[in-house]
Amino acid sequence: MRRIGLQLIAEKKAAILADSREKSSAAKDGVERKDVHGRDLLTLLIKANMASDIPESQRLTDDEVLALAGHETTSSATTWCLFSLAEHPDIQRKLREELLTMPTDSPTMDEIMSLPYLEMVVKEVMRYHSPVPMTNRVATKDDLIPLNKPFTDKRGQVHDSIPISKGDPVMIPILVINRSKALWGEDAHEFKPERWENTPEAISSIPGVWSHILSFLGGPRSCIGYRFSLVEMKALIFTLVRAFEFELAVPVTDIKKKSTIVQRPFLISEPKGGSQMPLIIKPYRPL
Ligand code: HEM
Repeated sequence: MRRIGLQLIAEKKAAILADSREKSSAAKDGVERKDVHGRDLLTLLIKANMASDIPESQRLTDDEVLALAGHETTSSATTWCLFSLAEHPDIQRKLREELLTMPTDSPTMDEIMSLPYLEMVVKEVMRYHSPVPMTNRVATKDDLIPLNKPFTDKRGQVHDSIPISKGDPVMIPILVINRSKALWGEDAHEFKPERWENTPEAISSIPGVWSHILSFLGGPRSCIGYRFSLVEMKALIFTLVRAFEFELAVPVTDIKKKSTIVQRPFLISEPKGGSQMPLIIKPYRPL
Protein backbone atom coordinates (compact mmCIF):
# COMPACT_ATOMS: atom_id res chain seq x y z
CA MET A 1 0.00 0.00 0.00
CA ARG A 2 2.88 2.30 0.87
CA ARG A 3 4.72 1.66 -2.40
CA ILE A 4 1.61 2.15 -4.52
CA GLY A 5 0.50 5.17 -2.46
CA LEU A 6 3.84 6.94 -3.01
CA GLN A 7 3.76 6.01 -6.69
CA LEU A 8 0.28 7.55 -7.03
CA ILE A 9 1.50 10.74 -5.36
CA ALA A 10 4.55 10.94 -7.69
CA GLU A 11 2.36 10.40 -10.78
CA LYS A 12 -0.20 13.01 -9.65
CA LYS A 13 2.58 15.55 -8.98
CA ALA A 14 4.08 15.03 -12.43
CA ALA A 15 0.66 15.35 -14.10
CA ILE A 16 -0.17 18.54 -12.15
CA LEU A 17 3.17 20.14 -13.13
CA ALA A 18 2.82 19.15 -16.79
CA ASP A 19 -0.72 20.54 -16.83
CA SER A 20 0.27 23.88 -15.26
CA ARG A 21 3.29 24.29 -17.62
CA GLU A 22 1.02 23.73 -20.60
CA LYS A 23 -1.49 26.33 -19.40
CA SER A 24 1.05 29.03 -18.71
CA SER A 25 4.10 28.17 -20.76
CA ALA A 26 5.08 31.86 -20.97
CA ALA A 27 5.02 33.36 -17.50
CA LYS A 28 5.55 31.30 -14.40
CA ASP A 29 7.06 28.01 -13.46
CA GLY A 30 5.19 26.12 -10.72
CA VAL A 31 1.66 26.06 -9.41
CA GLU A 32 -0.24 28.78 -7.57
CA ARG A 33 -3.09 28.27 -5.15
CA LYS A 34 -5.60 29.79 -7.59
CA ASP A 35 -4.66 27.04 -10.06
CA VAL A 36 -6.01 24.43 -7.67
CA HIS A 37 -8.91 22.73 -9.40
CA GLY A 38 -9.89 19.07 -9.39
CA ARG A 39 -12.30 17.21 -7.20
CA ASP A 40 -10.59 14.24 -5.61
CA LEU A 41 -8.99 14.47 -2.19
CA LEU A 42 -5.50 13.42 -3.29
CA THR A 43 -5.37 15.94 -6.17
CA LEU A 44 -6.56 18.77 -3.92
CA LEU A 45 -4.06 17.91 -1.22
CA ILE A 46 -1.11 17.59 -3.61
CA LYS A 47 -1.95 20.69 -5.65
CA ALA A 48 -2.41 22.81 -2.52
CA ASN A 49 0.82 21.43 -1.12
CA MET A 50 2.78 22.15 -4.33
CA ALA A 51 1.52 25.72 -4.66
CA SER A 52 4.44 28.16 -4.90
CA ASP A 53 2.63 30.75 -2.75
CA ILE A 54 2.64 28.75 0.51
CA PRO A 55 5.65 28.98 2.84
CA GLU A 56 8.10 26.04 2.91
CA SER A 57 7.37 25.45 6.63
CA GLN A 58 3.71 24.73 5.84
CA ARG A 59 4.42 22.07 3.22
CA LEU A 60 3.72 18.41 3.92
CA THR A 61 6.15 15.63 3.07
CA ASP A 62 4.94 12.83 0.75
CA ASP A 63 4.75 10.57 3.82
CA GLU A 64 2.45 13.05 5.55
CA VAL A 65 0.25 13.30 2.45
CA LEU A 66 0.04 9.50 2.43
CA ALA A 67 -0.90 9.35 6.14
CA LEU A 68 -3.48 12.10 5.64
CA ALA A 69 -5.14 10.30 2.77
CA GLY A 70 -6.14 7.66 5.31
CA HIS A 71 -3.37 5.15 4.59
CA GLU A 72 -2.28 4.54 8.21
CA THR A 73 -5.73 3.95 9.67
CA THR A 74 -7.08 1.77 6.84
CA SER A 75 -3.91 -0.31 6.52
CA SER A 76 -3.75 -0.98 10.25
CA ALA A 77 -7.47 -1.90 10.30
CA THR A 78 -6.83 -4.34 7.42
CA THR A 79 -3.82 -5.81 9.26
CA TRP A 80 -5.94 -6.42 12.38
CA CYS A 81 -8.62 -7.96 10.19
CA LEU A 82 -6.08 -10.49 8.84
CA PHE A 83 -4.91 -11.14 12.42
CA SER A 84 -8.44 -12.00 13.57
CA LEU A 85 -9.08 -14.14 10.49
CA ALA A 86 -5.82 -16.01 11.14
CA GLU A 87 -6.79 -16.49 14.78
CA HIS A 88 -10.27 -17.79 13.83
CA PRO A 89 -9.93 -20.18 10.85
CA ASP A 90 -13.68 -20.97 10.99
CA ILE A 91 -14.55 -17.28 10.45
CA GLN A 92 -11.91 -17.06 7.68
CA ARG A 93 -13.44 -20.11 5.92
CA LYS A 94 -17.00 -18.78 6.23
CA LEU A 95 -15.91 -15.41 4.83
CA ARG A 96 -14.01 -17.02 1.92
CA GLU A 97 -17.06 -19.13 1.04
CA GLU A 98 -19.14 -15.97 0.76
CA LEU A 99 -16.47 -14.08 -1.23
CA LEU A 100 -16.14 -16.96 -3.70
CA THR A 101 -19.85 -16.72 -4.55
CA MET A 102 -18.99 -13.49 -6.42
CA PRO A 103 -18.50 -14.46 -10.08
CA THR A 104 -15.78 -11.87 -10.73
CA ASP A 105 -12.37 -10.87 -9.34
CA SER A 106 -13.20 -7.17 -9.84
CA PRO A 107 -16.65 -6.51 -8.39
CA THR A 108 -18.21 -3.05 -8.43
CA MET A 109 -18.42 -1.01 -5.23
CA ASP A 110 -22.13 -1.90 -4.89
CA GLU A 111 -21.37 -5.61 -5.30
CA ILE A 112 -18.66 -5.47 -2.62
CA MET A 113 -20.96 -3.57 -0.25
CA SER A 114 -23.75 -6.14 -0.72
CA LEU A 115 -21.86 -9.05 0.88
CA PRO A 116 -23.47 -9.57 4.33
CA TYR A 117 -20.76 -11.61 6.07
CA LEU A 118 -17.99 -9.31 4.82
CA GLU A 119 -20.01 -6.43 6.28
CA MET A 120 -20.25 -8.20 9.65
CA VAL A 121 -16.53 -9.06 9.70
CA VAL A 122 -15.55 -5.45 8.92
CA LYS A 123 -17.93 -4.08 11.57
CA GLU A 124 -16.49 -6.48 14.11
CA VAL A 125 -12.89 -5.52 13.16
CA MET A 126 -13.73 -1.87 13.62
CA ARG A 127 -15.48 -2.51 16.96
CA TYR A 128 -13.06 -5.03 18.44
CA HIS A 129 -9.77 -3.53 17.21
CA SER A 130 -10.74 0.19 17.08
CA PRO A 131 -7.69 1.38 15.06
CA VAL A 132 -7.94 4.81 16.76
CA PRO A 133 -8.48 3.69 20.40
CA MET A 134 -9.07 7.08 22.00
CA THR A 135 -9.11 10.80 21.35
CA ASN A 136 -9.25 14.06 23.32
CA ARG A 137 -11.28 17.23 23.42
CA VAL A 138 -11.01 20.43 25.48
CA ALA A 139 -14.14 22.00 26.98
CA THR A 140 -14.74 25.46 25.50
CA LYS A 141 -17.18 26.45 28.31
CA ASP A 142 -18.36 25.27 31.74
CA ASP A 143 -20.90 22.49 31.31
CA LEU A 144 -22.50 19.36 32.78
CA ILE A 145 -22.03 15.94 31.15
CA PRO A 146 -25.31 14.08 31.75
CA LEU A 147 -25.00 10.41 32.82
CA ASN A 148 -27.11 7.46 31.67
CA LYS A 149 -26.79 5.86 35.10
CA PRO A 150 -26.31 7.96 38.28
CA PHE A 151 -23.27 7.11 40.42
CA THR A 152 -22.60 7.40 44.18
CA ASP A 153 -19.39 9.15 45.25
CA LYS A 154 -17.14 8.38 48.26
CA ARG A 155 -19.29 10.57 50.53
CA GLY A 156 -22.47 8.72 49.55
CA GLN A 157 -23.78 11.56 47.39
CA VAL A 158 -25.62 10.53 44.20
CA HIS A 159 -24.77 12.36 40.93
CA ASP A 160 -26.59 12.25 37.60
CA SER A 161 -24.04 14.42 35.77
CA ILE A 162 -20.33 15.35 35.82
CA PRO A 163 -19.49 19.07 35.96
CA ILE A 164 -16.66 20.23 33.69
CA SER A 165 -15.00 23.63 33.51
CA LYS A 166 -13.80 25.60 30.51
CA GLY A 167 -10.33 24.34 29.54
CA ASP A 168 -10.76 20.84 31.06
CA PRO A 169 -9.35 18.06 28.87
CA VAL A 170 -11.89 15.33 28.09
CA MET A 171 -10.69 11.86 27.06
CA ILE A 172 -13.02 9.92 24.76
CA PRO A 173 -12.31 6.20 25.36
CA ILE A 174 -13.33 4.83 21.92
CA LEU A 175 -12.04 1.28 22.47
CA VAL A 176 -13.46 0.98 26.00
CA ILE A 177 -16.94 1.98 24.81
CA ASN A 178 -16.68 -0.32 21.76
CA ARG A 179 -15.93 -3.22 24.12
CA SER A 180 -18.15 -2.33 27.10
CA LYS A 181 -19.83 -5.43 28.56
CA ALA A 182 -22.63 -3.22 29.92
CA LEU A 183 -23.49 -2.21 26.34
CA TRP A 184 -22.52 -5.23 24.22
CA GLY A 185 -23.11 -8.13 26.64
CA GLU A 186 -20.81 -10.63 28.36
CA ASP A 187 -19.09 -11.63 25.07
CA ALA A 188 -18.01 -8.01 24.36
CA HIS A 189 -14.32 -8.98 24.59
CA GLU A 190 -14.62 -11.73 21.95
CA PHE A 191 -14.16 -11.30 18.18
CA LYS A 192 -17.54 -12.47 16.92
CA PRO A 193 -18.89 -11.14 13.58
CA GLU A 194 -22.19 -13.00 14.14
CA ARG A 195 -23.08 -10.55 16.92
CA TRP A 196 -24.08 -8.12 14.14
CA GLU A 197 -27.04 -10.36 13.17
CA ASN A 198 -28.76 -9.29 16.35
CA THR A 199 -27.28 -6.35 18.27
CA PRO A 200 -28.39 -5.38 21.82
CA GLU A 201 -30.78 -2.45 22.27
CA ALA A 202 -28.27 -0.77 24.65
CA ILE A 203 -25.85 0.12 21.81
CA SER A 204 -28.36 2.47 20.19
CA SER A 205 -27.25 5.06 22.79
CA ILE A 206 -23.68 5.16 21.36
CA PRO A 207 -23.53 8.35 19.26
CA GLY A 208 -21.15 6.98 16.60
CA VAL A 209 -21.39 8.21 12.98
CA TRP A 210 -21.42 4.55 11.81
CA SER A 211 -23.03 1.37 13.17
CA HIS A 212 -23.30 2.45 16.83
CA ILE A 213 -19.57 2.18 17.33
CA LEU A 214 -17.21 5.03 18.09
CA SER A 215 -14.38 3.95 15.75
CA PHE A 216 -14.99 6.88 13.38
CA LEU A 217 -16.20 9.03 16.26
CA GLY A 218 -19.49 10.98 16.05
CA GLY A 219 -20.77 14.54 15.87
CA PRO A 220 -19.60 17.39 13.63
CA ARG A 221 -15.88 16.42 13.78
CA SER A 222 -16.29 12.74 13.03
CA CYS A 223 -14.21 11.02 10.35
CA ILE A 224 -14.95 12.36 6.87
CA GLY A 225 -13.27 9.38 5.19
CA TYR A 226 -15.16 6.48 6.75
CA ARG A 227 -17.21 5.43 3.73
CA PHE A 228 -14.13 5.53 1.52
CA SER A 229 -12.15 3.61 4.11
CA LEU A 230 -14.80 0.86 4.42
CA VAL A 231 -14.90 0.30 0.66
CA GLU A 232 -11.10 0.29 0.46
CA MET A 233 -10.80 -2.21 3.30
CA LYS A 234 -13.50 -4.47 1.88
CA ALA A 235 -11.82 -4.44 -1.56
CA LEU A 236 -8.49 -5.44 0.01
CA ILE A 237 -10.01 -8.22 2.14
CA PHE A 238 -12.09 -9.44 -0.82
CA THR A 239 -9.00 -9.85 -3.02
CA LEU A 240 -6.69 -11.25 -0.32
CA VAL A 241 -9.06 -13.75 1.29
CA ARG A 242 -10.32 -15.14 -2.04
CA ALA A 243 -6.75 -15.82 -3.13
CA PHE A 244 -4.89 -16.77 0.08
CA GLU A 245 -5.15 -18.59 3.39
CA PHE A 246 -3.74 -16.81 6.44
CA GLU A 247 -2.17 -18.27 9.59
CA LEU A 248 -0.26 -16.55 12.38
CA ALA A 249 3.49 -17.20 12.02
CA VAL A 250 4.16 -16.52 15.73
CA PRO A 251 2.26 -17.46 18.92
CA VAL A 252 -0.66 -15.10 19.46
CA THR A 253 0.76 -14.23 22.90
CA ASP A 254 3.81 -12.70 21.16
CA ILE A 255 1.71 -10.03 19.43
CA LYS A 256 0.86 -6.86 21.27
CA LYS A 257 -0.82 -3.62 20.34
CA LYS A 258 0.92 -0.31 20.79
CA SER A 259 -0.85 2.93 20.22
CA THR A 260 0.75 5.93 18.54
CA ILE A 261 -2.62 7.53 17.74
CA VAL A 262 -3.26 4.43 15.57
CA GLN A 263 -2.93 0.96 17.19
CA ARG A 264 -0.20 -1.08 15.48
CA PRO A 265 1.07 -4.65 16.02
CA PHE A 266 4.52 -5.32 17.56
CA LEU A 267 6.26 -8.52 18.69
CA ILE A 268 7.11 -8.88 22.37
CA SER A 269 10.05 -11.12 21.35
CA GLU A 270 11.42 -8.44 18.98
CA PRO A 271 10.89 -5.11 20.73
CA LYS A 272 13.24 -3.30 18.32
CA GLY A 273 11.79 -4.93 15.16
CA GLY A 274 9.27 -2.13 14.49
CA SER A 275 5.64 -2.67 13.67
CA GLN A 276 5.04 -6.13 12.19
CA MET A 277 2.47 -8.92 11.91
CA PRO A 278 4.17 -12.13 10.73
CA LEU A 279 1.69 -14.29 8.83
CA ILE A 280 2.03 -17.52 6.87
CA ILE A 281 0.29 -16.93 3.56
CA LYS A 282 -0.59 -19.84 1.25
CA PRO A 283 -2.42 -19.71 -2.07
CA TYR A 284 -5.99 -20.93 -1.56
CA ARG A 285 -6.66 -24.18 -3.45
CA PRO A 286 -10.21 -25.51 -3.30
CA LEU A 287 -10.35 -29.26 -2.49
C1 HEM B 1 -10.12 2.60 9.37
C2 HEM B 1 -9.95 3.81 8.92
C3 HEM B 1 -10.19 5.09 9.70
C4 HEM B 1 -10.43 5.29 11.04
C5 HEM B 1 -10.53 4.25 12.16
C6 HEM B 1 -10.60 6.73 11.22
C7 HEM B 1 -10.90 7.32 12.45
C8 HEM B 1 -11.06 8.67 12.64
C9 HEM B 1 -11.35 9.29 13.92
C10 HEM B 1 -11.54 8.55 15.25
C11 HEM B 1 -11.42 10.62 13.72
C12 HEM B 1 -11.68 11.71 14.78
C13 HEM B 1 -10.35 12.12 15.39
C14 HEM B 1 -10.50 13.27 16.37
O1 HEM B 1 -11.12 14.29 16.03
O2 HEM B 1 -9.98 13.15 17.47
C15 HEM B 1 -11.16 10.87 12.30
C16 HEM B 1 -11.13 12.12 11.71
C17 HEM B 1 -10.84 12.34 10.39
N1 HEM B 1 -10.63 11.37 9.41
FE1 HEM B 1 -10.62 9.37 9.69
N2 HEM B 1 -10.43 7.37 10.02
C18 HEM B 1 -10.19 6.41 9.06
C19 HEM B 1 -9.97 6.62 7.71
C20 HEM B 1 -9.96 7.85 7.10
C21 HEM B 1 -9.77 8.08 5.68
C22 HEM B 1 -9.60 6.99 4.64
C23 HEM B 1 -9.77 9.43 5.50
C24 HEM B 1 -9.63 10.25 4.24
C25 HEM B 1 -9.86 9.81 3.04
C26 HEM B 1 -9.98 10.06 6.80
C27 HEM B 1 -10.06 11.40 7.01
C28 HEM B 1 -10.33 12.00 8.23
C29 HEM B 1 -10.37 13.46 8.45
C30 HEM B 1 -10.09 14.54 7.42
C31 HEM B 1 -10.69 13.66 9.80
C32 HEM B 1 -10.85 15.01 10.53
C33 HEM B 1 -12.30 15.46 10.50
C34 HEM B 1 -12.53 16.74 11.29
O3 HEM B 1 -11.78 17.04 12.24
O4 HEM B 1 -13.50 17.46 10.97
N3 HEM B 1 -10.10 9.07 7.73
N4 HEM B 1 -10.94 9.67 11.67
